[in-house]
Amino acid sequence: MIDEKWMGQGFIDEPIPERIDVKAEIRRMCKEKNALIMAHYYTEGVIQELADFVGDSLALAQKAATTDADIIVMCGVHFMGETNKILCPEKTILVPDLNASCSLAESCPADEFEKFVKAHPGHTVISYVNTTAATKAVTDVVVTSSNARQVVDSLPKDTPIIFGPDRNLGGYINRLTGRKMLLWDGACHVHEKFSVEKILQLKREHPTAKILAHPECKESVTSLADKVGSTAALLKYSIMDEAQEFIVATENGILVEMQKSAPQKTFIPAPPDGSTCACNECNYMKLITLSKLYNCLKYGWPAIEVEPTVAKKAVKSIHRMLDISERLGL
Ligand code: 13P
Ligand code: SF4
Repeated sequence: MIDEKWMGQGFIDEPIPERIDVKAEIRRMCKEKNALIMAHYYTEGVIQELADFVGDSLALAQKAATTDADIIVMCGVHFMGETNKILCPEKTILVPDLNASCSLAESCPADEFEKFVKAHPGHTVISYVNTTAATKAVTDVVVTSSNARQVVDSLPKDTPIIFGPDRNLGGYINRLTGRKMLLWDGACHVHEKFSVEKILQLKREHPTAKILAHPECKESVTSLADKVGSTAALLKYSIMDEAQEFIVATENGILVEMQKSAPQKTFIPAPPDGSTCACNECNYMKLITLSKLYNCLKYGWPAIEVEPTVAKKAVKSIHRMLDISERLGL
């Protein structure tokens, strides 16, 4: 029975019994319930360490589409849980805190996006995966930062395209491809904050360091970068490249996996504007804590539901992305 207080707040904060080994208990419950824990690279290190699978948005969607687990615990943000539910309607999808939103998803309400689409007939509608299920339902093809360029390239050169909601990712692809996609005016509050001056100062202090940037960053930041890419692409580059120091302009959770994969290398988080803090964190991703993960597995709540008529439309745009990615070996 789920307490009304928990329902109101969107997560369970029941104290964990004393003397319990939380991590061992989480693993035990996973086995008993045939549950798979998936985590995005931006979650806390302790969550990434416990997860069965850690990945970027594309890898998480691909994994959800193929797992035979009965329950997926999506340690990430709400739209990731929705994507899993749309792909696997028969499974229980848990997100440990329903308040784990995303500023990009919030910047693109489905009804306003639909009006924008209707005002520009004849356009193919591409939406970043960082959107609600309802926005995906008015979309032709979903993309992630791992495959956005390739999905756009797969369309004939003269196809008019609407791209939402990230103006930075859309602008980056426009510059790469020479297209003139119409952009929705949304942005990520974490990636927009990186300070060009502070990155340049770090580069002066570490002249051999390579700069890594996520395409959600502003053009003034991506134009400084040696590598622009999704979290998975930046991770791969940091492992493969001969440089020993990297200035990392994306959410600082990725440093956990970077440091684990290349312990001899130095990873320096790019600082945000107007702050003395050396890091840049997604407050939504960091809502996923060990105790919320424990409680959600114990009680099987909060579970994600997607209205079936919305899911029926949204699934087409997600499958189109997965099909193109599979065809291109992404
Ligand atoms: P990735 O596609 O790199 O996982 O990005 C997801 C995200 O939320 C970036 O802010
Ligand atoms: Fe959304 Fe930005 Fe957080 Fe990614 S980092 S989940 S885009 S708010």
